[in-house]
Amino acid sequence: MGAETKAVETGYHNLNADSKHEDWQATKADFHVEEDGRGEVLNIDGHPVMEQWEQPYMAALAKIATSKGGRVLEVGFGLGLSATAIQQYDIEEHVIIEANSDVVKRGEEWAKDQPHKVVFKEGLWQDVVDSLPENYLDGVLYDPYPLNSAEQHIHQFDFIKKIYAKMKPGSILTYCNLTSIGVLKGQHAKWENLWKQTQVPHIIRCGFQKFSFSTFKITAPDTCEYYAGHTEALLPKLERPALRKARYLPLEKIRRGYKNVNVRVKVTELVPDKRIAFVGDDTATIKFSWSSEVATSKAEKPASLKVGDELIIRNATCKGSGKYRPAKKGKEGEEKKGDVNLSLICDRWGKLDFDLERAGIPEAFGDVKMDNPLTKPREDKSKDSPDDDDDEVKDEEPEDDE
Ligand SMILES: C[S@@+](CC[C@H](N)C(=O)[O-])C[C@H]1O[C@@H](n2cnc3c(N)ncnc32)[C@H](O)[C@@H]1O
Repeated sequence: MGAETKAVETGYHNLNADSKHEDWQATKADFHVEEDGRGEVLNIDGHPVMEQWEQPYMAALAKIATSKGGRVLEVGFGLGLSATAIQQYDIEEHVIIEANSDVVKRGEEWAKDQPHKVVFKEGLWQDVVDSLPENYLDGVLYDPYPLNSAEQHIHQFDFIKKIYAKMKPGSILTYCNLTSIGVLKGQHAKWENLWKQTQVPHIIRCGFQKFSFSTFKITAPDTCEYYAGHTEALLPKLERPALRKARYLPLEKIRRGYKNVNVRVKVTELVPDKRIAFVGDDTATIKFSWSSEVATSKAEKPASLKVGDELIIRNATCKGSGKYRPAKKGKEGEEKKGDVNLSLICDRWGKLDFDLERAGIPEAFGDVKMDNPLTKPREDKSKDSPDDDDDEVKDEEPEDDE
């Protein structure tokens, strides 16, 4: 908390410590209208789960979650306010995970009149998320209710960590946890501090590198137990970076220290243990090796490489190497000087496709998308100094935070 902040007790402090997730599913959902500005409310197990005054805020979250169109996942149906807003946008499919069976019944009735396809998945997200395919979602709106006090401030991050792989590259996620923010905003006068101190560290741990927030003006009735006294609500925006088009380099252009190198080559020679090959294109020949992790992954069986195989090597790292390879013949029949002291290494971040049909590449060297753009080498301080073998190649490009 910053020095300028004066803590005020706000928000909801009545969650039970020992409520079980399973109990939530069969507990009766109490929908009724309050005439004190809250409008329709949803109470479950005695807790204020959702109130109608949130509608404009829900619509703002829906706008973010649908901004990429496609398939949108919503977690927590509640009063169906964000769901109704999601349906106003140009999407292909609306998948909804909801734990409480009374709420699901209401949701299934609601779904009958919606313009876009709705797929209800009844259950706790904790039990459902694993069944979703990877790279499946274009947008996510997460708004469940903390089921006990231990998860009041963090349940969204447990979810966000799990959903990352299910999101397509280029997709977007937003979340709402007013039961947490209602408390935290009393402790952080500035939104910037609240965001940086209580949300960002978790978001980074979940794997996101690109994220930002804005706030949305709201009017919470005094009778709202979880948000009374606040005038704005958080609109987080978390993005999974889009894939970039792969750029292939001729071997002669590769320099020591390059990372995320993509090349199209042919195997020219194999050494007996078959974990080292020499590969070439029209410009040079280079030593190529792959780590045991890559060699044992079931999609890639370098042990079956043959001389003459065409390879696509992606996300490789180029290190210095002592091995000299005779240069290939140049166009004029002259010996051409290749980059002979270089070695391409395909490690756990890398990818090796040698059965191009199986890899889904229609023509021998069609377009392939990759996560990383080429990373240029650092300044080569000493030609003789070995490269830093501990350097990690990231599977996605770090982008500017916020
Ligand atoms: C705050 S309400 C959602 C409000 C909704 N966004 C709207 O606009 O009306 C939370 C909903 O999440 C559901 N829920 C709570 N925990 C859940 C979980 N672990 N998995 C799935 N749904 C959950 C609750 O039953 C409730 O319907």
